[in-house]
Amino acid sequence: MKITTYYKIFYRHRVEKANILLKFYIFIILPFRYLINLPFLPKVINLDDHSKKNEELFKKDLDYLFEYFNSDKGEFYINQYMQPIKKNNARIDAHGYSKIYEKYFEKIKEDKLNVLELGSFYGNAAGAFFYYFKNSKIYSGDVFPDLFRYKSLRLKNFYINTSSEKSINNTLVKAPDNFDIIIEDASHTLPDQIISLFLLFKKLKPNGVFVCEELDFPETRKDMNLNNEHPDLKQILLAIKSNKDFNSKYINDADKNYFLKNFKSIEIFKGKINEVAIIQKK
Ligand SMILES: C[S@@+](CC[C@H](N)C(=O)[O-])C[C@H]1O[C@@H](n2cnc3c(N)ncnc32)[C@H](O)[C@@H]1O
Repeated sequence: MKITTYYKIFYRHRVEKANILLKFYIFIILPFRYLINLPFLPKVINLDDHSKKNEELFKKDLDYLFEYFNSDKGEFYINQYMQPIKKNNARIDAHGYSKIYEKYFEKIKEDKLNVLELGSFYGNAAGAFFYYFKNSKIYSGDVFPDLFRYKSLRLKNFYINTSSEKSINNTLVKAPDNFDIIIEDASHTLPDQIISLFLLFKKLKPNGVFVCEELDFPETRKDMNLNNEHPDLKQILLAIKSNKDFNSKYINDADKNYFLKNFKSIEIFKGKINEVAIIQKK
């Protein structure tokens, strides 16, 4: 983890709210805090080697793997948002999406797929997908790719900023790869959720699945919908499901028409804490 990433993840929000004295104090202590955290950072693991000694993981279900790799998509996890030095081992409630995902993924998990996750963090879900989709290539994008802690010939980790249409277009839309599964777990803000789905739907292969995690964040959290805008992605998806029209400044006509012509189904599920949308392509 670079010192700039360490600052942005653990201190930027505090600095934004701090008075001048506190700001000064934080910038003085920051390099020391960074240095003492370094030995506690998780080491990079080569999963091609790891899998030779842990073959039984290829047979595990998604929930087991999410918990093994500490993704917040499973039933329980250990808080991954603490500074490494402060991390404790208490199991806390996670989103509980595994059972929902198994309904869609179990029948295709042996296939050779391209699976993309946006918002990969330490690579916790990528590690789980490496074992669950054992013949697939896993693509993991994040605004902080230096956090990623797994390596494999089947893993590709890269920089993307899903708050920027330009970044999504240059990194994914213009690239040759298409995906069987796209899971959007990045910033969860209102514009980013809408833009990611409508820009990337054309990158899904036929019968592909697009997942938007924490769909209800813009509805339930002020910081995810700072300008109190409507419609949010949930409202758009519900309008489409009831054959109603919708308008959003974040979607151009070509992408809107492409989506309406090519989606097969839209389902919204409640996990243990938040909602998740699963959209299937024709
Ligand atoms: C909730 S964490 C992801 C958890 C992880 N997927 C898992 O299963 O445990 C959200 C991640 O999204 C990333 N992120 C936030 N805003 C982003 C953006 N605009 N573009 C790309 N990644 C972003 C953060 O750096 C963080 O790593």
